[in-house]
Amino acid sequence: MSQQFLALFNHQPKGGLRERLCMMLRQAITQGHLQHHARLPSSRQMAADLSLSRVTVEAAYAQLESEGYLERRAGRGTFVSIAIPQRLASSASQDSPPFSRRGEQVLATGGCQDPPFPHAFAAGSPELRAFPHEQWRRISSSVQRRLGSQVMGYGDPVGYQPLRQAVADYLALSRGVRCSAEQVVMLTSSQQALQLLALMFLDNDDEVWLEEPGYPGARNAFLAAGARCRAMPLDSEGAIPLSGRAKLVYLTPAHHYPTGIPMSLARRLHWLAWAREQQSWLIEDDYDSEFHYDDRPAPALQGLESDSRVICLGTFSKMLFPSLRLAWMVVPPQLVDALGRARSVMDGHSALLPQAITAEFMQQGYFASHLRLMRQLYHSRRDRLLEQINTRMQPWLKPLQAAGGLQLTVCLKQGEEVKLTQHAAELGLRLPRLSPLYAGNTSQKGWILGFAALTPGEIVSACDTLVMLLSRYAQTTR
Ligand SMILES: Cc1ncc(COP(=O)(O)O)c(C=O)c1O
Repeated sequence: MSQQFLALFNHQPKGGLRERLCMMLRQAITQGHLQHHARLPSSRQMAADLSLSRVTVEAAYAQLESEGYLERRAGRGTFVSIAIPQRLASSASQDSPPFSRRGEQVLATGGCQDPPFPHAFAAGSPELRAFPHEQWRRISSSVQRRLGSQVMGYGDPVGYQPLRQAVADYLALSRGVRCSAEQVVMLTSSQQALQLLALMFLDNDDEVWLEEPGYPGARNAFLAAGARCRAMPLDSEGAIPLSGRAKLVYLTPAHHYPTGIPMSLARRLHWLAWAREQQSWLIEDDYDSEFHYDDRPAPALQGLESDSRVICLGTFSKMLFPSLRLAWMVVPPQLVDALGRARSVMDGHSALLPQAITAEFMQQGYFASHLRLMRQLYHSRRDRLLEQINTRMQPWLKPLQAAGGLQLTVCLKQGEEVKLTQHAAELGLRLPRLSPLYAGNTSQKGWILGFAALTPGEIVSACDTLVMLLSRYAQTTR
């Protein structure tokens, strides 16, 4: 029997022979391979099978006896003396390493779900079929030809300088952000920015305030860091500060996610003063501010005053395409070095080639014209969806403010959100639920309907299915 132990023994980390044997036996017992009352091979047999000296085996058996794992009965042999609860034994035997408390916090968030697309009505997807593929391809090959091996080595953790400059120029002109290229940190995603900020600013149990309802990606990043997340209520001017102090506050001022409410100027000024007074940081997620349809979006909160305590985030996921994996964070000059060093610990830097291509795409004016085109396209799609809801779904759905964004949030006036979502999935319709975006006990039921990636025809046909579903449901519950 002891030959079965050979592989396990050989897998033990290097160390003294006695300690390796002890570790092997502890592992076999705790993983349920050696059960309560099981008899172990004699020390002579074990020594022969594992090519150890009998003294070593005797010493290991004696140690495990003193630890309570084994019992030695004179003249009868050595037996396992503890019973490991089944749940512990089976979870340990699935080869899953025991996670740290932080690891468990990360898992408890449930992770972030990104939408498969294009698919009615997955939220947050841009239109990829209208992307200027030809220009992108041309710029890619010219960048590779021109820069060659210059973009094949390791890069700067804070980003590729020409892209930082292009982003700073774009942000100054389009979003009123006050920054130099040196303040722009290029990252993989807004999600990475949130994770990095959580890592650097939060200790366990520190307070972070988030809008309610709010973006789950932000909540997950803060919960994963062990922070205490408190929900801020909203009114028609945006998020309302709570009493007390938060180290970080997460805000979506351009249009609140997911209700679409833009933050008023008075409320913005109030937040800036609050952050200065409290010495807290405001995280401004400017995620899809470019897509405002009825008027220009208000300039970024960050640029309203100089030296503001605002860290502004933006992402190419919505403006270009999600798999590009490029986003930015504008930080005050005194934080750049520290955040760059922290980023180098996380994953080094973002890939150089896509950064160089994106910089060129922006410098040659394609980025601005792509945004213009997408704004028009999404505007007409938003109008089509609104018209469908207002004319065909009045008894059931109430659209919320729809000034911008890639999705339209609707409240469910009658009917069960979970059941209807399940029925819709059976019909091939994805309805992202509104209620999980509330962390508190009360929540509004509804859906966040992504429209940007759907043609007007696709919107109407998805609405046909939704109307059928809602009217069928109304009949069965009458
Ligand atoms: C409010 C908000 N911020 C950020 C993102 C995603 O950005 P990224 O892909 O860069 O993590 C989303 C995606 O839906 C979002 O809704």
